[in-house]
Amino acid sequence: MQLERFIGMARKPEAVLITGGAKRLGLQFARKALEMGYAVIIHYRSTCSKECLKLLKSAAYKDLVYFIKQDLEFSADNLIDKSLELPVTLRGLVNNASTFSKGNLKNPDNLEEILNINTIAPIRLATRFYELVRKGWIINITDANIKRPNINFQNYRISKLFLEEITHQQAFLFAPSIRVNAIAPGAMLPADSESRQYFNSLSVKIPLARTGDLSSLTDAFAFLVNTPYVTGEVIKVDGGWNLTA
Ligand SMILES: NC(=O)c1ccc[n+]([C@@H]2O[C@H](COP(=O)([O-])OP(=O)(O)OC[C@H]3O[C@@H](n4cnc5c(N)ncnc54)[C@H](OP(=O)(O)O)[C@@H]3O)[C@@H](O)[C@H]2O)c1
Repeated sequence: MQLERFIGMARKPEAVLITGGAKRLGLQFARKALEMGYAVIIHYRSTCSKECLKLLKSAAYKDLVYFIKQDLEFSADNLIDKSLELPVTLRGLVNNASTFSKGNLKNPDNLEEILNINTIAPIRLATRFYELVRKGWIINITDANIKRPNINFQNYRISKLFLEEITHQQAFLFAPSIRVNAIAPGAMLPADSESRQYFNSLSVKIPLARTGDLSSLTDAFAFLVNTPYVTGEVIKVDGGWNLTA
C-alpha cells in the first residue's frame, strides 16, 4: 500500500488533514502519517510548536507538509474546501482538535462552547469530506475516560461520548465510500491545567501501570488507516484505565 502511494506521488501525493496537528498528540499523528508515506495538512488555530516548524523545514518531507490556520468555531467545513486547493489528493481526516475546559451541565453555555469544537466541528468536517472527497477514511479522537460522571469535566465528557456515537452513526451513513473509526486515548500527555506530578501519579490507577504510551497510540492510528475492512470501531489506547472507571 505504501509503494502504491509513492507511485501515486508522480501525480499528487495522498494526504491526511489533521486538525490541531501542530503540537502534542496531533503532531504525533502527523509524523506517523508522513512515515507511512502520506503528505500531511496540518491545521492549527494559534501557533505551531518548534517540532512542527522543524517538520516544515525537513528536507525528507519536502513538499509533503502543508499548514492551514483556522478557528474551528466558525465554518469548520471550510477547512476541507481549503485543503482541496492544495496540490495533494485528500484521503484521510483526523478530527483531533479539541477543547478541554472545566464545566458541567449547570453551565449550558460552557456545554455549547465545548460541543461546538469537540462534536459539531468534527461532524461538519466529516460531512464535507464525505461530500467532496468521496473515497477515504476518517479517524475521530475521543477519550477513553468518559463513561463515569465527573462534576468538573462533565461537559467535555459528554462532547466525547457524542463523538463516539457519531463515529458509529457516520460509519453506517458514509459506507461504503468512507470508513469512520475512532481512537480513544487514555492518559497520554498532561493537559495545560495539570502538573506533571499529578499526571505521573495516574499510573497507579492504570492496570498497565504507566502513562503516555505514544507509540501504541500511533500504532492504533496506522492499524485503522491500513485495515480496509474495519469501520465504526473505537480503539481504546489507555492501558486498561477504562476498566477501573
Ligand atoms: N492529552 C491526552 O492525554 C489525551 C487524553 C485523552 C484524549 N485526548 C484527546 O486527544 C486529542 C489531542 O489531545 P491533546 O492533549 O494533544 O489536545 P489539546 O492540546 O488539548 O488540543 C489540540 C488542539 O486543538 C486545537 N483547538 C482547540 N480549540 C480550537 C478551535 N476553536 N479551533 C481550532 N483548533 C482548536 C488547539 O489548537 P491551538 O493550540 O493552535 O490553539 C490544540 O493545539 C484531543 O481530541 C483530546 O481530547 C487527549
